[in-house]
Amino acid sequence: MPKGIAVSKMFAGISSRYDLANHLLSGGIDYYWRSVLINRVQEYSPQNVVDLATGSGDVAFKLHQQLGSSCMIEAMDFCEPMLEVARRKKVAKKIGSNLAFTYGDCMNLPLADASVDAVTVSFGVRNFEDRQRGLREINRILIPEGKLFILEFSQPDIWFRPIYYTYLKYILPLVASLATGKKDAYDYLAGTIESFPTRSELSAQILQSGFEHVESSGHTFSIVAIHTATK
Ligand SMILES: C[S@@+](CC[C@H](N)C(=O)[O-])C[C@H]1O[C@@H](n2cnc3c(N)ncnc32)[C@H](O)[C@@H]1O
Repeated sequence: MPKGIAVSKMFAGISSRYDLANHLLSGGIDYYWRSVLINRVQEYSPQNVVDLATGSGDVAFKLHQQLGSSCMIEAMDFCEPMLEVARRKKVAKKIGSNLAFTYGDCMNLPLADASVDAVTVSFGVRNFEDRQRGLREINRILIPEGKLFILEFSQPDIWFRPIYYTYLKYILPLVASLATGKKDAYDYLAGTIESFPTRSELSAQILQSGFEHVESSGHTFSIVAIHTATK
């Protein structure tokens, strides 16, 4: 099975429990990481933002809340059950047409060249079946000087790695299987985190995909990093 289809099926299997598992496994710190990301986007004051690999939409909702109703937010994912969770949350929050959840595969985005001020991707780049292709697609849809904001797991500070990798290998799959009933999905998560590039390696990959400038910051012992790239 092609990797993209396998990833989409995996997220479909955990979609109804995704939010719960997320907050449980991170001890709630994921709220803080997303808010740092959104503060960075807000500094740039974009008129339109595309949130890719939006999943259940937490970044898109926070963008909508912080950037105000004059900013158009389009949130995309290639997993319909995840989008359904996001759409139900949108109805519950009584949000209007300036936030839309639509189908979009990051390998082939249904968006015109140079049409987007800013793109956010939170915990999505790690799952791309072809990272360079996804980054080049993002570069294509951004306006000149447009910004890409990536929130993603990274390789933590050296002293913290033994504790963190033990957590990933033994505790995370156990807690996740209790929360979602799907241990395999979280074995996959642990594997993708351990094999993901360091901050400087990801910066180099972003530059290779056509961006002019990139900077990054580590958070919570560098468990996660935020990369900001300019086209
Ligand atoms: C770990 S979730 C992250 C969801 C959300 N951004 C968050 O911060 O919680 C990863 C999401 O990436 C989506 N995804 C992975 N590869 C994708 C692709 N090529 N195109 C669109 N969505 C993709 C999955 O369907 C899943 O919903």
